[in-house]
Amino acid sequence: MGDLGTVEANESVSIQTRKVGVFLGAEVTGVDLTKPLDPATVRAIGEAHAAHEVLVFPDQKIGSEDLMRFGRYFGELTVHPFSTNAADNAALIVYDNKEGNPPAATDIWHTDETFRECPPMGTMLCSKVVPALGGDTVFASMTAAYDGLSDRMQHFISGLEAVHDFKPFKELFSQTEEGRKRLKRYEELYPPVTHPVVRVHPITGRKAIFVNPQFTLYIKGMEERESRSLLDTLFRVTSILEYQYRHRWRPDMLVFWDNRSAQHSAVHDYYPQRRLMERVTIKGDRPIGPGAPADPAELRRFKMPPITAFEGRRAVRQHERGKDLM
Ligand code: SIN
Repeated sequence: MGDLGTVEANESVSIQTRKVGVFLGAEVTGVDLTKPLDPATVRAIGEAHAAHEVLVFPDQKIGSEDLMRFGRYFGELTVHPFSTNAADNAALIVYDNKEGNPPAATDIWHTDETFRECPPMGTMLCSKVVPALGGDTVFASMTAAYDGLSDRMQHFISGLEAVHDFKPFKELFSQTEEGRKRLKRYEELYPPVTHPVVRVHPITGRKAIFVNPQFTLYIKGMEERESRSLLDTLFRVTSILEYQYRHRWRPDMLVFWDNRSAQHSAVHDYYPQRRLMERVTIKGDRPIGPGAPADPAELRRFKMPPITAFEGRRAVRQHERGKDLM
């Protein structure tokens, strides 16, 4: 994605974008995803993706091959180790949820696959069959959420690191000897990874909160209860309504979201109606924070400054008035 370049002034691009949310979300028209795209159009979509965090392409009657071709313009497609991959193509995920096949745990706020060292930069989800009612996907801008934090909190969390792993998928393994062996193999393949709590977007340079309740276990260098209450505070920002865009699906829509700056949660209210979707993910970079990881000794200093740190700034008490305090 980083090497797509930017759209030159002399390049003519036919796509139009229209914002659909205040902090994130734009609808893209003027492009036909059943056909190959020229490089300038791909660059324009790449720029819009980074700028708007969630792109909605309505009325795209595309097949699986079109979806995968579109995905590959932005990087290598990745294979989800625990999802419902198509039998003949591991990079294609098919969600065919209906009576007897309820949706998996996608109704928890998350950024895709942060249990990997390099989580996917983006995800494309395409609607084939949608329920008459329900089944929306809700997105939250984690850059807007970061900007909304107080200066003190921004300062405190910048440089922290958190540990992530594939905890929600562990229950997919059976409690048999074979199931335990398979789980152990996956734990060796995907050991817990550390990511910065604040991620700097490689294209826009904007800072985003990069912890999520689905995969983040704890913050390094903090006591368990400190880590838990800080994570709870950071997890809760996704519920601030103004940072959200709620996407209502129609058939043949493609949504391309940026995992570096947005989180999402699927609404499972439609079950047992049918909802059929296809999905691909695009390989991403190792998340980069705003600076060197914080030294725990420094963190304690920020958390509980000694009273002497305020000596020059504190209010003068009654009995001190008129005296030379220095
Ligand atoms: C997902 O988290 O990939 C699923 C989103 C959805 O089904 O709306």
